[in-house]
Amino acid sequence: MAQTEPDTEELLELSSDTRSILERHDLRPLWEVEDDMGTTRQDPEADIWKWEDIQSAIDGIERDVPIADLPPGFQRRVAVPINAPNAISNSIYVGIQTVSPGETAPSHRHSANALRFTIDGSEDMKTVVAGEEFPMENNDLITTPQWEWHDHVNDSDETAAWLDVLDLPFVLDSLNARQVFENHELERQPVTKTQGYWDSQYGRGRPADEKSDGSIPGPFEGNREATPPYRFGWDEMLESLRQRAENDDPDRHDGYSLAYVNPATGKEPLFPTMSFRAQLLNEGPTDAHFHNATEVYFVIEGEGATHVGDEALEWGQWDVFVVPPNETHHHEPDDEAVLLGMTDRPVFEAFNLYAEAEPSS
Ligand SMILES: [Fe+2]
Ligand SMILES: [Fe+2]
Repeated sequence: MAQTEPDTEELLELSSDTRSILERHDLRPLWEVEDDMGTTRQDPEADIWKWEDIQSAIDGIERDVPIADLPPGFQRRVAVPINAPNAISNSIYVGIQTVSPGETAPSHRHSANALRFTIDGSEDMKTVVAGEEFPMENNDLITTPQWEWHDHVNDSDETAAWLDVLDLPFVLDSLNARQVFENHELERQPVTKTQGYWDSQYGRGRPADEKSDGSIPGPFEGNREATPPYRFGWDEMLESLRQRAENDDPDRHDGYSLAYVNPATGKEPLFPTMSFRAQLLNEGPTDAHFHNATEVYFVIEGEGATHVGDEALEWGQWDVFVVPPNETHHHEPDDEAVLLGMTDRPVFEAFNLYAEAEPSS
């Protein structure tokens, strides 16, 4: 087993066009970020990445670099929004990954928890996790819990794109610790489970003969119930969100909000380090608040603005933005909008350190 993060070697040649798009929009290719990890930013500010800028960057990277040419290690073709030295925040990493038709992002596993949120996918774009092929259809969220093998296989005839979200900077930057990482001996791990297996074992029934002891895979120890590999299909999530909007009152700060739960516990957080919510905003501006946790947002649909301090982050579909710790913020949708909200709040809550308040008017 490799006990360190992968080595990346010489920088790959990106065309000057692609290089300047990346620099102009505060994006970096993943394979250039990895080696730099280990530093934090003291005073992160609110920021937004517009989808059209992300799109031109990932198109350029896809044009310039086949996955097979990437250095050994994280063989992933990813543009990384940068607002801390090596990620969008000091705790949560977001990247936008593409896999071209016929390509495979080879199998590996690591200590960081990860998930995929599909931006542009299809049933023939599959992320293979723990022996099962999970189809990546638009807005599906699929977990890659720590130390599970995972590869991404595009058997469709269109390029697929998705959001990767990992807790990498929490360990590598904020704790200045090491990543545990291993490449699979095969490019594609063997598919050993039928499709739907992992999904079928959580929810209305659990295996009766094998009680989960919550043990954590790999060489890790902890006291949290491990998160299983799992696909949250978007149709079901959206239906649950709409049922909330029909029947419940919205949260004053986050609208109608539905947490992605750890299927093993039925509760937040999805991972011990990161929590995720689908948020429906359709009743005008939310009330302002501030907290010590960071929030990262992906716009699933709709347009609007999030006001952070004196700044208005104007967003549209597929934009990514970040609300740094302790900044007063509220959301203002133009009409109806759906956001994916991501936060490191579970880290604060684990130590009874989470704090939230409203500004005095
Ligand atoms: Fe990975
Ligand atoms: Fe907030």
